[in-house]
Amino acid sequence: MARRKYVVGNWKMNGVTASIADAQAIFAAAGDHAGVDVAICPPFTLIGAMVAAVPGAEVGGQDCHSAVSGAFTGSVAAPMLADAGASLVIVGHSERREGCGESDADVRAKAEAGLGAGLSVILCVGEPCEVRESGRAIDYVLAQIAGSVPDDFDATRLAIAYEPIWAIGTGLVPTVDDVAAMHGAIRGALAARFGGAAEEDMRLLYGGSVNGDNACELLGAGDVDGALVGGASLTAAKFLPIVAAAAKL
Ligand code: PGA
Repeated sequence: MARRKYVVGNWKMNGVTASIADAQAIFAAAGDHAGVDVAICPPFTLIGAMVAAVPGAEVGGQDCHSAVSGAFTGSVAAPMLADAGASLVIVGHSERREGCGESDADVRAKAEAGLGAGLSVILCVGEPCEVRESGRAIDYVLAQIAGSVPDDFDATRLAIAYEPIWAIGTGLVPTVDDVAAMHGAIRGALAARFGGAAEEDMRLLYGGSVNGDNACELLGAGDVDGALVGGASLTAAKFLPIVAAAAKL
């Protein structure tokens, strides 16, 4: 089975009830691009309302706790996301790895929790600026992959998002050659560990300042199956050109 293109919006800490109208507009128009899977990960508070407003839409959380329940004030468990109607969870975003001190082991435990709750998982990796400048980006990211990707999962349900930290929200993007080299290295490492399923079914997304102007080029790079999009996913006007670019590939 060929890997389907996948374009996912990460709304981060943006969106209130009125923003559901943007999601409705996005999912309605995305339906015109049958070859592309589209998902939105809004704040936890909007998951239930978004699922209710757009039945059948792929809606996800931006994080989950690794435990199923317990005394973890402020946290949300993966089965709770599923209960709210989510079908997906992002784990290991750099804003959580860096901002909340999450280790590779934490990210792996969260990925296992998401998979265990029946969710699909997008597991994020990516290097900081100084690592890129020192020429060690691929080694750094492959170490994150080794430490945070679980051992046993259905390859159709776990995607990797390569998001260089210095490209997130900055307007800076790597060269297409750098993206292709990184994605090729990730694909190779996954294939060495998991065999053919990693090549046939696991999707690799690029994330970091993707917009309607650069999507065609970035999504066209080797071994890129789609995009994880922050700022440009908040409105249909900005997000749909990215979905359209994916549909053309
Ligand atoms: P950005 O964010 O598109 O705003 O750079 C991407 C992300 O953090 O997932």
